[in-house]
Amino acid sequence: MKTLIIYTSQTGFTKRYAEWLAERTNGDILDIKDAQKKDADYFENYDSICYGGWAMAGNIVKGKWFLEKAANWQNKRLAMFCVGGSPNDNPDVDVFLKNALTDEQKRYMKIFYCQGGFNYEKMKAPSRIAMKMFVSSLRKKKDATEEEKVMFAKMASSYDISDVKYIEPIVAYLEGEKYEKAV
Ligand SMILES: Cc1cc2nc3c(=O)[nH]c(=O)nc-3n(C[C@H](O)[C@H](O)[C@H](O)COP(=O)(O)O)c2cc1C
Repeated sequence: MKTLIIYTSQTGFTKRYAEWLAERTNGDILDIKDAQKKDADYFENYDSICYGGWAMAGNIVKGKWFLEKAANWQNKRLAMFCVGGSPNDNPDVDVFLKNALTDEQKRYMKIFYCQGGFNYEKMKAPSRIAMKMFVSSLRKKKDATEEEKVMFAKMASSYDISDVKYIEPIVAYLEGEKYEKAV
């Protein structure tokens, strides 16, 4: 079984998850910019294709590109993973996972979330400014819970809550014994 991991990453968290996944599945790895240059035949070589993008304002970056492609790959094992600054147990993550795919897409694809972090040093200037403004608006929230206050304070500087263990469900799905190709 041949696996391809495609990713896009601004500050490195998603790239690292993509590398961990490629290593574990013995698969190939491509930055989305290189994937976009490949013709349709290239992807025929793979039995499973997984796309990882970072979370931006509740969306998965370049997710639309992958979903459009994936509609033509329904005979393959397909997965997406999103890497964000929120911890896995943040309720927003559940909402995101629930709404990211249509019922039709859920028939042939699964989506996962992996907690990443924030790296202000590696962020491009517009992202850094957007985040600083976002965090300062959050910190003014009057009805914030104690948990949220801790989170907002944490978001004011760089942090890393990524862990290789979060790839386990994705690997299990991509290589699952119950693997059956969708028709
Ligand atoms: C403009 C902007 C918006 C973001 N929005 C979210 C978000 O909605 N949810 C979230 O969990 N993280 C959000 N993040 C955090 C990133 O998803 C997080 O830093 C991620 O680990 C970056 O991955 P990368 O290192 O692969 O670029 C946002 C970051 C930026 C810069």
